Amino acid sequence: MKIVILNEGASDSRVSASPETVKKINEMNHAVYVQKGAGIKSNFLDQDYEENGAKIFEDENVIREADVIFKINKPSKDQIDLFKENSILIAALDPFNNPDLIEDLRNKKIISFAMELMPRITRAQSMDILSSQSNLAGYQAVINASKLFNKALPMMMTAAGTIAPAKVMVFGAGVAGLQAIATAKRLGAIVSATDVRVVAKEQVESLGGKFIMVESDELEDAETSGGYAKEMSAEFKTKQAELISRTLSGQDIVICTALIPGKKAPVLISENQVKSMKPGSIIIDLASESGGNCECSKSGEIININEVLVVGAKNITSEIAQDASSLFAKNLLNFFMILLDSETNEININWEDEIVTGTALTKNGEIVHEGFNK
Ligand code: NAI
Repeated sequence: MKIVILNEGASDSRVSASPETVKKINEMNHAVYVQKGAGIKSNFLDQDYEENGAKIFEDENVIREADVIFKINKPSKDQIDLFKENSILIAALDPFNNPDLIEDLRNKKIISFAMELMPRITRAQSMDILSSQSNLAGYQAVINASKLFNKALPMMMTAAGTIAPAKVMVFGAGVAGLQAIATAKRLGAIVSATDVRVVAKEQVESLGGKFIMVESDELEDAETSGGYAKEMSAEFKTKQAELISRTLSGQDIVICTALIPGKKAPVLISENQVKSMKPGSIIIDLASESGGNCECSKSGEIININEVLVVGAKNITSEIAQDASSLFAKNLLNFFMILLDSETNEININWEDEIVTGTALTKNGEIVHEGFNK
């Protein structure tokens, strides 16, 4: 089989295969073709891929012959036009926001898998791009905040005086939030966090963070069976806003990570609350691409409100491309392997497997994911 790794272009520094994953695919007797320069921004040179058995290509005709295409982000219409019928596309396809893409994949009869729809089950953990990327996003958010913050994070006692530790608050203690807490703690900050899922309390505290939570009976039912947050009632939101008003003005850095799957991100910080913060404070809104946890954030922009910087973080994992690519590539490889017959290494998809049904988007010109047929 021909496996093709496409270049993500200017907007993303990541790449969907590493020299390590290329080597593994090559050892399974598949031919791997990497588009020229695809890994350069992740520090993977064309030569590194070649040394691990891949061929580097520039001619787009190679794409026409691909049996399997790996990508980080959704392919362009022009790229899809090159894909052959029944070829397999594995990528983050953001399907709920891209009806035109789904139409194009259907028309070309592509077998497509949207990796962000991976079920949150133990067996699928090694294929979970949301986890691998969110973890790095939480880390990078704190690093970026510390660069913008014109003070130190840890307490420092010097002969010239004592520097107080920075106070960091994290909204949403999922994968990204927990890594943000851990990173801020490592840098010496005093960290607090809030979430609507009661189980997050223990996780936050185990990292040395203080858990701040609204008192409400609604919390008993705030989590779906899949472990995700539900949207809360108007009454809960009012109580949460009061809690945030009381807490926010004392914070130096705020990292926002709260998300509700398939919905707009909950708005947790109002403009007035931003104005209550001290000049020099930083808000990094990782949820900005889903609407934002802060009312003022704009994806891809930094807004200055009375010297409080509100950063609408966009594709932050691209800033830590080498690690993000390595983990993403492993996720894709692990997924690719479950599509293969364990003896022949040829494609033999078990369409009953919940990992397959959970991620498969289009096949034979139809949309096959149940999320689109309801
Ligand atoms: P996410 O990215 O969907 O949301 C981030 C966090 O925001 C969550 O902790 C959520 O509870 C919180 N949140 C939502 N609304 C909020 C609000 N109004 N106020 C405050 N916080 C709010 O979540 P993520 O990080 O993807 O993890 C969700 C769940 O999935 C967790 O239970 C996690 O343990 C589980 N998980 C399971 C995996 C597996 O078994 N394969 C892998 C990764 C996560």
